[in-house]
Amino acid sequence: MPSPPWIQNLLPFPRLLWPSLLLATGIYHFIMTVLETIFLDRQPAKVLNLTQIRYKVFARLWTYNGAAMSQEMPGPLGALVSSCRGRVLDVGPGSRELLGRFNPEGITAMYGAEPAVDLHEGLLNNARKTGFGEKYHALLCGGEPESLIPALHKSGVLASSGTGGMAEDGIFDEICCLRVLCGVPRPRETIKGLYILLKPRGRMVICEHVVNPWRTEGSITARAIQFVYEVLGWSFFLGGCGMQRHTREYLREAGEWETFELQYVQPKNVVPYVVGELIKKR
Ligand SMILES: C[S@@+](CC[C@H](N)C(=O)[O-])C[C@H]1O[C@@H](n2cnc3c(N)ncnc32)[C@H](O)[C@@H]1O
Repeated sequence: MPSPPWIQNLLPFPRLLWPSLLLATGIYHFIMTVLETIFLDRQPAKVLNLTQIRYKVFARLWTYNGAAMSQEMPGPLGALVSSCRGRVLDVGPGSRELLGRFNPEGITAMYGAEPAVDLHEGLLNNARKTGFGEKYHALLCGGEPESLIPALHKSGVLASSGTGGMAEDGIFDEICCLRVLCGVPRPRETIKGLYILLKPRGRMVICEHVVNPWRTEGSITARAIQFVYEVLGWSFFLGGCGMQRHTREYLREAGEWETFELQYVQPKNVVPYVVGELIKKR
C-alpha cells in the first residue's frame, strides 16, 4: 500500500523510511503477544509454537492497525475488487477491512481462507455489516494447498467438482490475493495451487508488494534498504511477510494466462506493489 497519509505527515521522506515504523509496530506487538501469552493466558509453552505465535502477533497488529492501513488502496484496485463476480476465494482476508469495497450483489458465494483464528470474529462481523450474510464462508486455513484443499473439502465446495479432489477443472470464478502472498509459505507452489483452483477464463485479482524492480523502473537504494529491513527481522516480526519476493514472476510461471496485466505502483518505493488482473486461459 502507499505510505499512509498520517505517516507522510510525520516523516519528511516517508518513501524510504515509513517501513521502519511498521517494523517497530511489529516488534511492539510481538513483545505484547509473548507477555500476554505467558502472564495473562498463563500458557508459556504456547510461545514455543512459532506458527501460532506468528498468527497471533499479526492478528494483534492487524486488529489495531488494519483499518488505518486500508484507507488508501494502490492503483486500480478499487475498480478490480468491486467488479468481482460469481464464486470468489479471498486468500488471507484478515478481518476484512476491504470487504466493503466488494459488491455482494454479483457475488454468489465468498470464501475467506484466513489462518489467524483471532481475526475470524471481526471478519464475520464485517461480512454481516457489508451485506454478505450467509454468502460469506470463513475458512480456518492458509492459501497453501495442504491447508486450503482439506478446508475446501470440509466446507463442501470441493465435493461436487474437481478431479481426484484437486479441482483440476477449477472451482472459483475469481481468486483475490490482496496483500497476502508476501506471507504464504512456498509462494511458488502456493500460487500454482491457486491457479489450479481457478476456472478456465477465471480471474485473479492481485495487489501484492514485491521485490523492488531496480533493474527496470525501480530504485537500487530502495532495493538495498529492502535487504536491510529483512536482516533487521522484518519477516520474523511481521507474521512471515517477505519484502523481497518475486511474486510477479511466480504468478507468470503458475500456468497459461489469457490476460496478464500487472502494473507497478510506486516502483521506487521500499514497498512497491504490483496491482492488476490475470485471466486464466480457456
Ligand atoms: C496484510 S494482511 C491483509 C489482509 C487483507 N487481505 C487486506 O488486504 O486487507 C495479511 C493476511 O494474510 C493472512 N495470512 C498469513 N499467512 C497466510 C497464509 N499462509 N495463507 C493465507 N493467509 C495468510 C494473515 O493472517 C492476514 O490476515
